[in-house]
Amino acid sequence: MKVSIIGAGNVGATVAYTLLVKGGCDAISIIDTNQEKALGEAEDLSHGVSLSKSVEIRAQGYEGVRDADVIVVTAGRNRRPGETRLDLARANVGIMEDIVRCMQPHYQDAKVIMVSNPVDILTEVVFQRMGIAKERLIGSGTVLDSSRFRYLLGREFAIDPRNVHAYVIGEHGDSAVPVWSMASLGQIPVTQYAPAGRLPLGPGDRKRIQEAVQNAGKAVIQHKGATYYAIALSVCSILEAIAGNEHSVHTVSSHIDDFLGIPKVSLSLPAVIAREGIRELLPIQLDAQEQAGLRRSADTLKTLLAELGYLPEPHHQVGLDAAGEGTAHRHAGDPQVDVLEFQALV
Ligand SMILES: NC(=O)c1ccc[n+]([C@@H]2O[C@H](COP(=O)([O-])OP(=O)(O)OC[C@H]3O[C@@H](n4cnc5c(N)ncnc54)[C@H](O)[C@@H]3O)[C@@H](O)[C@H]2O)c1
Repeated sequence: MKVSIIGAGNVGATVAYTLLVKGGCDAISIIDTNQEKALGEAEDLSHGVSLSKSVEIRAQGYEGVRDADVIVVTAGRNRRPGETRLDLARANVGIMEDIVRCMQPHYQDAKVIMVSNPVDILTEVVFQRMGIAKERLIGSGTVLDSSRFRYLLGREFAIDPRNVHAYVIGEHGDSAVPVWSMASLGQIPVTQYAPAGRLPLGPGDRKRIQEAVQNAGKAVIQHKGATYYAIALSVCSILEAIAGNEHSVHTVSSHIDDFLGIPKVSLSLPAVIAREGIRELLPIQLDAQEQAGLRRSADTLKTLLAELGYLPEPHHQVGLDAAGEGTAHRHAGDPQVDVLEFQALV
């Protein structure tokens, strides 16, 4: 498998390093407008190949995406003093439009993993700009938030986070929704678990944990200026699911045609990831509060998209079938009608 990484900053370089250590790909190309940086990262990583896995690592131009199986987009910039969320989104949308323009002449059929922030907005922008089949376009979305949620629940009860199943869905941002109704430790619902000497989590505990998940990224940035290890592991978990045809579940961001009556926006839901990208969205059931939270999350994203000139009703390029007819991009798991819960796989 060849992975092309666009953006050789903290996140891009750490994804490359994590891939090198974990294995699972034969070639990595690193692409950055700062070619010196891309070259330096490729050289530094290559010098460790004899001590880790046999991987060809090169700095390339955009021609590097031509034979890629997966393209990981980590290019962008972080917020500058005095900038609003909209200012930053506008700057990174501009960068993403540039990247799509540069990539398109070389792009074949790779899966694309979006990481740059605001990740849901940029996933939607790339979807609308590239006309890529939506199952091949995967935003890292709330994979990292879900990992933080699982870690914090595991720590709360001194249980290995790998035995905690819990999702955060919606926007990768302030309106993200932790799905308490489905969270479990082993097979016990988290909300019912009461080990000796303590009561089940009450509303105050849940609020505390939810806020810790929400503020986790900000805390790391405050302490060290950027986050990159856990996001690199999150991206690598998606890459492994594709490379290994795992059919494993990750809360990735993808373009939703109509889910819970939420139309035409990219946000995170639990999705089954395999060789082809997103195989389907899982038919999870949410309680009324979680449904309302997901709608709020979608509204937040739609408002920002509209402010950026990407209307909720997307003007994306519709794929053409052999007869030249338009085909809508659709996940296998998208319900066709408004439903009050995630169900109806077709
Ligand atoms: N989704 C998540 O959970 C998550 C987590 C952490 C960081 N991020 C995001 O990832 C992005 C990168 O973060 P970082 O810390 O690596 O930033 P960084 O500043 O260290 O690196 C960004 C890199 O992008 C490059 N770049 C800029 N424009 C480019 C273009 N047009 N083509 C190619 N390369 C270009 C820059 O030269 C730089 O090397 C940011 O948007 C950040 O917010 C997302």
